[in-house]
Amino acid sequence: MARYRTPACAPADVRVRHIARRDWGAIAALEDRAYAGRALAEGRAALQARGRASPGTCFVLDADGAPEGYLLALPYPLFRCPELHAAGDTGHAAPGGSGGAGNLHLHDVVVAEHLRGAGLAGRLIARLTATARARRYERISLVAVAGSADFWSRRGYRPYADVTPPADYGPGAVYMSRAVRPAGEEG
Ligand SMILES: CC(C)(COP(=O)(O)OP(=O)(O)OC[C@H]1O[C@@H](n2cnc3c(N)ncnc32)[C@H](O)[C@@H]1OP(=O)(O)O)[C@@H](O)C(=O)NCCC(=O)NCCS
Repeated sequence: MARYRTPACAPADVRVRHIARRDWGAIAALEDRAYAGRALAEGRAALQARGRASPGTCFVLDADGAPEGYLLALPYPLFRCPELHAAGDTGHAAPGGSGGAGNLHLHDVVVAEHLRGAGLAGRLIARLTATARARRYERISLVAVAGSADFWSRRGYRPYADVTPPADYGPGAVYMSRAVRPAGEEG
């Protein structure tokens, strides 16, 4: 069982759950704050389109009843990634298939500033990994933005230098991926 550090202003009850319609305003506000000044924020309509594409692989971090973080993931062909700001680009890969299918793309994860460093992103990512395993996805991919490649390397993701993310992911964006291993074989 993973252990989590307690933030200074710890909420009494923190849990990861699926996203409800009422959460999207708070999710868009979290995204806006997280990427302010980087031109990476997509806005509510695009975020909601990602969520609609795959509700079972998108989660919110519920802290005492308020959304304080989120993770959006959707089936998407390996070595490709959604265009940012393009609400209609939600991929077409199906879970459990072959070739480009069988890959889940972790589009975004954000935790509210005041709760960072307490392992809460780790909880969102662990929930996604368990869901991917249960749904028989073979891999999880992502684009590390804003200098976060080390964060992902420590969670088993490896970079693919020959896969260039679209320019709107910002300078230094890195395409990364890892295999979904059977339970008990996580490194
Ligand atoms: C990245 C983010 C989700 C991490 O959330 P979190 O709840 O603080 O993460 P955890 O507590 O599970 O892990 C914290 C660890 O990751 C490290 N970390 C956090 N952001 C990092 C980054 N950008 N680069 C490298 N390491 C990072 C912390 O230093 C900490 O390390 P430690 O365990 O050795 O102390 C959060 O900082 C955030 O929302 N950032 C803005 C959005 C973002 O960049 N998302 C990722 C885009 S791909």
